Amino acid sequence: MLWNKSLETGVAKIDEQHKELFRQVDNLVDKSQVAKITDTLVFLKNYVAKHFSDEEILQRVSSYPKYEGHRKLHDDFSQAYRDLYAKYQKAANKAPVIMEINSAAIAWLKDHIMKHDKEFAVYYLAKQAGQKK
Ligand SMILES: [Fe+2]
Repeated sequence: MLWNKSLETGVAKIDEQHKELFRQVDNLVDKSQVAKITDTLVFLKNYVAKHFSDEEILQRVSSYPKYEGHRKLHDDFSQAYRDLYAKYQKAANKAPVIMEINSAAIAWLKDHIMKHDKEFAVYYLAKQAGQKK
């Protein structure tokens, strides 16, 4: 599996969703899943939207100061994914586009989680710890 412990943020809900994202992204290049590629791409589009929305809710309820910037990163990825999905739909030869989506999603997720989600998680967990006192 592409997810590993170095990607853990410590916020259970976010980590569970990240694991599911990597699982689905991995299915794109799993030969036994080839018949379900379109379903997987559509599932990912919806699951990414749900995941971003859940993360943004946590950011808003905790008054995260970098919320706007973080949301913009989510919006940019959603747009990039939509563009790649449209490219997939139009492509006569779909295999290279699937590879492109797979590598783009892995690279983006890893970078985003390491830099941005972890930063938010540190803030969120500290804030929660503070409120429990
Ligand atoms: Fe995020």
